[in-house]
Amino acid sequence: MEVIITATPETGARTAARIVEKLVRARPRAVLGLATGSTPLGLYGELIRRHREEGLDFSRVTTFNLDEYIGLGADHPASYHYFMHEHLFGAINVSPERIHIPDGKTADIPAACEAYEAAIREAGGIDLQVLGIGHDGHIGFNEPGSSLASRTRLKTLTQKTIEANQRFFTSADEVPRHVITMGVGTILEARVCLLLAFGESKADAVAAMVEGPLSASCPATALQWHPRTTVIVDEAAAARLRRSDYYRYVHANKPAWQQDATFSFGGHE
Ligand code: PGA
Repeated sequence: MEVIITATPETGARTAARIVEKLVRARPRAVLGLATGSTPLGLYGELIRRHREEGLDFSRVTTFNLDEYIGLGADHPASYHYFMHEHLFGAINVSPERIHIPDGKTADIPAACEAYEAAIREAGGIDLQVLGIGHDGHIGFNEPGSSLASRTRLKTLTQKTIEANQRFFTSADEVPRHVITMGVGTILEARVCLLLAFGESKADAVAAMVEGPLSASCPATALQWHPRTTVIVDEAAAARLRRSDYYRYVHANKPAWQQDATFSFGGHE
C-alpha cells in the first residue's frame, strides 16, 4: 500500500484528481469505479474544474459506482444516482449510456447483481476504483463480517452506518436498511484502488486498514492484499498510523521515473 499524507483534505483531493486525470489522459476509454459520501466531493470538484478549465475529456470514459440504497429511485435526493448527477455527472461530459450505478428499484436483486458484475467484465474491468472508508472499516457498503471474496450483492446496513448516513435524510428511520454493493472481491479486481480518508474521525479506521491484521471484521484491510492501492489521508486521518514517518519518507524520496509512471497495466485500450 502506498500511503500519501497531505496537509489538508483540499491538497488530498488535488493529489487524487491528478492521479485520475493522468489515467484518463493516458487512456481516454478508462473505466472508473466511483464512490459517494462526503469524502470524494473535493476530488469530484477538482475533476469538474479540470474538465471546464483544462479540457479534461470524459466522453469515452465508463463508470461503475460502488453501491445504491434498495428502494430509492434516481429521483430521490438521498439516492446515489441523484448524488452522482448532482456532484459529478451533471457537470462533466460523461455519456449517460456509459454510467453504471446499481439499480435500487430492481424487482430481481440477485439478477441485477449478476448483471452488474457482467457489465464490469464486459467493460474490461475497472482501471481505477475510488473508495472512501466507513468508521467501522467498511468499503463500498461491505460492512464488518463481509466475506473478503464477496461479489455484488444485497447487504444489510449496521446501526452505526445508518446513524452515520442519517445526515443525508430527514431522520434515521428514513435510511434504507438494505443496499446493493459491489463485493470486496469485486473491488479487489480493480487494477488500481485509490482510497481517500479525511478528518480525525477516520483515524482509527485508517490505522486498522493500513497497519492492522487482515480481517473481515475490518473489510478495508482486504486492500493489504491488493497490489496497487494508494491511500490518501490528511494529517488528522493519519494521526494513529505508527509508521507515518516512513510513509512520508517514501513519498518524499520517490524516484523521478516512479513519480511520472503512467498507467501501464495491460487490459483494453
Ligand atoms: P463518508 O463515507 O465519505 O461520507 O465519510 C464513507 C463511507 O461510509 O464509505
